[in-house]
Amino acid sequence: MIEQTAIETPSVYTDSTDELLIDIRDLRKSFGKNAVLKGFNLQLHSRENLVIIGRSGSGKSVLLKCIVRLERPDSGLLNVLGRDVPSLNQTEMDLLRADVGFLFQGSALYDSMTVRENLEFPLRRHPEKLRDIDIEQLVLEALDSVGLVYAVDLMPEELSGGMKKRVALARTIILRPKIILYDEPSSGLDPITAKEIIKLILDIQEKYNTASLIITHDMDFARIIANRMVILVDGINYAEGSYAALNNSDDPKIKAFFK
Ligand SMILES: Nc1ncnc2c1ncn2[C@@H]1O[C@H](COP(=O)(O)OP(=O)(O)OP(=O)(O)O)[C@@H](O)[C@H]1O
Ligand SMILES: [Mg+2]
Repeated sequence: MIEQTAIETPSVYTDSTDELLIDIRDLRKSFGKNAVLKGFNLQLHSRENLVIIGRSGSGKSVLLKCIVRLERPDSGLLNVLGRDVPSLNQTEMDLLRADVGFLFQGSALYDSMTVRENLEFPLRRHPEKLRDIDIEQLVLEALDSVGLVYAVDLMPEELSGGMKKRVALARTIILRPKIILYDEPSSGLDPITAKEIIKLILDIQEKYNTASLIITHDMDFARIIANRMVILVDGINYAEGSYAALNNSDDPKIKAFFK
């Protein structure tokens, strides 16, 4: 059993006026004998960019999927925007999903749909019916935020990897979520395109005032974007702190993540 290490007061950028948006306590999730999350804790506040790092297979994607109930935890508290996720009915869950955007690892666009149709998808699924004219406007606004209005009628196969990420990002923000979950937003992109994505994420956050939970392997990305970082090791939040504080740690398990 690994003990949690406190690096410094964690909430570097939060103050008492910030709202608690996600509260996760003692979260456990196993697949058969494979215990992935073993008592994980996490708090996300408004205005935060919280970066989670962890080795491949440590459970980062599983954690995000639990937050939007694509996976169900075995036990623990999982509260998102004041709602107890495991006990919500389907309509309540659909409403909550509109407030929690998810940028999937890989872009997860629907290959048989145009960019426009991909963006319309979450709008048409939303429990509150929108008028066609409003849908058109939201699609174009979201594409404008990522600089891709001209690609509205293209198919995913006609897009580069960076463009796919941007379309996926547009689809993520189209319902104006309060929280955005990013699973490896820069993976598979060249460093320059990855920087453009970072800039977009920061622009979007400023424009829509979202809080973000960001999973990344990319430490340059983490250094630029994180107000606070959590290191997931052996199923728990092993360490928390600013990039600088964690970077100065002498703990070999933490040092392993930094060059
Ligand atoms: N649906 C599933 N059924 C069974 N095992 C699963 C399932 N989803 C994830 N796992 C297992 O849970 C563990 C954590 O997977 P997860 O995808 O969360 O890793 P990750 O930290 O996101 O890794 P990466 O950095 O490679 O994306 C892995 O051992 C994986 O095999
Ligand atoms: Mg993953």
